[in-house]
Amino acid sequence: MTKTVYIKTVGCQMNVLDSEMVIADLKRHGYTVVDSPGEADLLLYNTCSIREQAEEKTYSALGKLKETKARHPEKTIGVMGCMAQKDQETIFRRAPFVDMVVGPGQLHAIPDMLTKVTSGEGRQMAVSLGRKDGKQTVVARSHETFDPLRDPTMRPTPFQAYLRIQIGCDKFCTYCVVPNTRGPEQGRSPEEIVSEARVLAEQGALEITLLGQTVNSYRHRGPDGETDMAGLLERLHDIDGLKRIKFVTNYPKDMTARLLETIRDLPKVSPYLHVPAQSGSDAVLKRMKRGYTIADYMEMFERIETILPEASVSSDFIVGFCGETDEDFQKSVKLIERCRFKNSFIFQYSVREGTKAAANLIDDVPREVKAARNNELLAVQDRISKEDNQKLIGDTVEVLVEGPSKKADRSDPDAPVVQMTGRTICDRIVVFDGNRRQAGQLMDIQIDDVSSHTLIGRVKTVEVVSLGMPG
Ligand code: SAH
Ligand code: SF4
Ligand code: F3S
Repeated sequence: MTKTVYIKTVGCQMNVLDSEMVIADLKRHGYTVVDSPGEADLLLYNTCSIREQAEEKTYSALGKLKETKARHPEKTIGVMGCMAQKDQETIFRRAPFVDMVVGPGQLHAIPDMLTKVTSGEGRQMAVSLGRKDGKQTVVARSHETFDPLRDPTMRPTPFQAYLRIQIGCDKFCTYCVVPNTRGPEQGRSPEEIVSEARVLAEQGALEITLLGQTVNSYRHRGPDGETDMAGLLERLHDIDGLKRIKFVTNYPKDMTARLLETIRDLPKVSPYLHVPAQSGSDAVLKRMKRGYTIADYMEMFERIETILPEASVSSDFIVGFCGETDEDFQKSVKLIERCRFKNSFIFQYSVREGTKAAANLIDDVPREVKAARNNELLAVQDRISKEDNQKLIGDTVEVLVEGPSKKADRSDPDAPVVQMTGRTICDRIVVFDGNRRQAGQLMDIQIDDVSSHTLIGRVKTVEVVSLGMPG
């Protein structure tokens, strides 16, 4: 008998990819995917720990399952992802009806755990080792993920796929849980990455996005020497069928001239660089232990402008980090104005248990001040994004069409013309009136109008020059 699974995914692209892997694995074990928890035999929650709010939302969603489980004890409830690794037993304590807790490095264990749960062996937990629970190599192995299983049906679109090239993080920014939840930084072998990229291309992926917490720090030492990010991009570029290669997230200190020149010289590689600055103040960056100053960041930024002038650069900022004064905050405003990022993701600082900041620094910026700074920074970024987008009016951009836009989804499913959405190679979102069959095509779109987040255009029609009939 087939069983059904419902999966809810929050957090970053790593989690989206992990959910795809888990579903591919479960399908091999006879499961089919359903869209609502009510229809599912197995309910999986793929969680994120980056901020307290993300965790509290998950606990509140889990809380609502108490009654479901009381009425249907045969249903299995599993919590996976970063919160599973971070909270472990706490999840069973706060939500005693949960049957499985699985860290992101243990996802391969899910089918076995399910067998145990359904055969009455009680609740199951599989988590990776803590950073200090053993030798570095043993800890690292316990965080390795099971990447080769790919399932195109679980992707947001069949022609776009994520590919993990790096596991974990060793930067230990003082605010961040990721080095604990995802373990030590490890570059996967280039052979494994290239063969997985080939599988993706054969499955119809036109665009792959390489994932790593500090993706440009990628390094792998093998029998033939060391491969860095530039070397890896060169190898991936040769794969037939792939049209675009993107990568996130970059670490400012590792944005070398060699890497930028490689991006410039390889036409399939996207010149979109997400390189979070986090703050515009040296004092704050030091307390965050980011490992660079604003002078270093600007030097990197100028290197990008010189080598890759067509690049679009985006950033993340944390507002209200411990000890951030108004003056510090204004330096973040100034940095956005100097760099004119394509866009920035702005986060209000939230204390995370187990981090250096939680142990050593005081979360002293009031909630209202964090919220006000968040709004101010967003307004500055939105104004700049809009101004820079306006410069693109009248231009023609190449768009990989992803599918109907959110607006189109609500309209008549049989309508011949719907609003379609896609992205440029620089990651700019473009909407235009088209038809559903255009999904997966690369199309030229002429830009007529813009907002701060979107370019609005129309399909560029090729001018047909009539030569007239001879004679
Ligand atoms: N590895 C990436 C980002 C990972 S987390 C990098 O280093 O850039 C994504 C973003 O969440 C971070 O860039 C940061 O801006 C934000 N973030 C991380 N921890 C946070 C915390 N404790 N409070 C608020 N924002 C946080
Ligand atoms: Fe977290 Fe810093 Fe690592 Fe990014 S680089 S995942 S912010 S510790
Ligand atoms: Fe969240 Fe883990 Fe990603 S904490 S942002 S899901 S790496």
